[in-house]
Amino acid sequence: MNTPHPRSSSESSIHHKDSVQEQHTFEDLLGGTEAKTLRDHNPLFHQANHGQTRPPTLFVIFGAQGDLTKRKLIPALYNLAASRHLPQEFAILGVDGIAMDTEDFRLKISQDIQELSNLPIDATIKKWLLDRLYYLSGDFRDPHTYESLQQAVSQLNAQHGTQGNYLYYLATASSFFGEIVQQLGEKGLVKQNEGSSRRVVIEKPFGHDLESAQSLNHTLRSVLAESQIYRIDHYLGKETVQNILVFRFANGIFEPVWNRNYIDHVQITVAETLGVEHRGTYYDNAGALRDMVPNHLLQILGFVAMEPPNTFDAEAVRNEKAKLLRAIEPMNPVDVLQSTVAGQYRAGIINGRHVPPYCSETNVSPKSLRETYTAMTLFIESWRWEGVPFYLRTGKRLNKRVTEVVIQFKSAPLMLFRKTPVDRLTPNVLVIRIQPDEGISLSFGAKIPGPQVQVGNVDMDFQYADYFGDAPSTGYETLLHDVMDGDATLFQRSDNVELGWQVVDPILKVWDSLGTHAIHHYDSGSWGPSEADALLAKDGRKWRNHD
Ligand code: BG6
Repeated sequence: MNTPHPRSSSESSIHHKDSVQEQHTFEDLLGGTEAKTLRDHNPLFHQANHGQTRPPTLFVIFGAQGDLTKRKLIPALYNLAASRHLPQEFAILGVDGIAMDTEDFRLKISQDIQELSNLPIDATIKKWLLDRLYYLSGDFRDPHTYESLQQAVSQLNAQHGTQGNYLYYLATASSFFGEIVQQLGEKGLVKQNEGSSRRVVIEKPFGHDLESAQSLNHTLRSVLAESQIYRIDHYLGKETVQNILVFRFANGIFEPVWNRNYIDHVQITVAETLGVEHRGTYYDNAGALRDMVPNHLLQILGFVAMEPPNTFDAEAVRNEKAKLLRAIEPMNPVDVLQSTVAGQYRAGIINGRHVPPYCSETNVSPKSLRETYTAMTLFIESWRWEGVPFYLRTGKRLNKRVTEVVIQFKSAPLMLFRKTPVDRLTPNVLVIRIQPDEGISLSFGAKIPGPQVQVGNVDMDFQYADYFGDAPSTGYETLLHDVMDGDATLFQRSDNVELGWQVVDPILKVWDSLGTHAIHHYDSGSWGPSEADALLAKDGRKWRNHD
């Protein structure tokens, strides 16, 4: 993550002549391990790659024939190559079960780039990338695959000068994570030597509940150091999510009012118009709560509500996020009944098109009780947030695709305009629009011109596109760039993952025990079940819905 790092060009760099001398003294004084620890935790030492290409890297993709590789990883690597963010010493090795040789794999990826790139294709860049692309076929469970992998990586490492820096991206079903990492460990393929890095990237689901998440973490940690594990939450790759931190901490005027004294409540909405598409099998096991809340919604909540870290070093940021997640008031079964809603979509109309009910989607049980919508009220036990409700909701087949954070401020303390036609003023609302219409707006009251004092609601509006254009991105560029740099700020640490599950586990248990009573149906194309409106209405509040 580039933006919030305090790495201005005016700051000293370890490439500077004087600093190089200091580096020697520093290593000499402290000795290897201690110097490395200090180095890893000191932002000054992270400047070496800023504004330059990444360190030499051999990028190994398990699941090279899958959708994630095709739709996200390859287009993101193409974009990084196009923006000259990849090192010259770079190679990609795809591993998957389908038998294929490197030549055919290059042909396939070439077609994928052609089909899916969001940039106009530049033949030179495409060739540069394809020339560095290799394929190894093998079953992820078969130890022979890892023997072949050993040979392949050492050959490619020598051929492309990747200096022993191996990045393993597990773009596979989560059931393979433990197996692959253990086999890599057994073959010594994740052992870091002085000066080389071995990193493993995995993507959610990180378990199915708290217990399975703990067990997965345990397996990963039995082979890897925490600093080698990069757990991706693709929401943190979104510029607008990263911008929450910049908005809060790079500006002086917001933090003083960012607390219970001024904020009435916060809403976080992630609404989708899509249904479960081709993911019925996964989704009918997971449901909206597991799929979206312990990861994406709580990550957004973390950025919105955490205390300012004292540096933008990965550990400092993740410590603050963990502190915040730990402070979420745990729910007992009565709280779950009163403060959460589960919904499932019926048939309906979306964008003028009839869509089927959830229970008749492919690979979904016709009697499924799985939720496709959830809403909840959370409280954070801290001096900053005591008593401020955080309303979270997410669902499929809703009226509009919109992800946003709404900060509603308290009303003015005195109704000065009581004797005018205005007897109630609308409170100020700050909306951070994450997608699709990226921007930030602040609404406030203004006098409508005329002899009477009439107050109207107006907006100050910032649109990303107006200032920064529409940079095509898959959302993975920053994350891949950061893994290569060894910057874990935007990745989930094991405690963050477990704390997320700790929040939702009690909800899952109560819903399971309620069976059919837990689910409230809603029409596709609506804003979810009426029970979710009632959740806010009982507090005298309303969701901010869009037409
Ligand atoms: C994924 C979920 O993590 O996020 C999907 O598994 C969901 O169910 C998706 O559709 C939403 O991501 P985005 O970036 O489209 O908002």
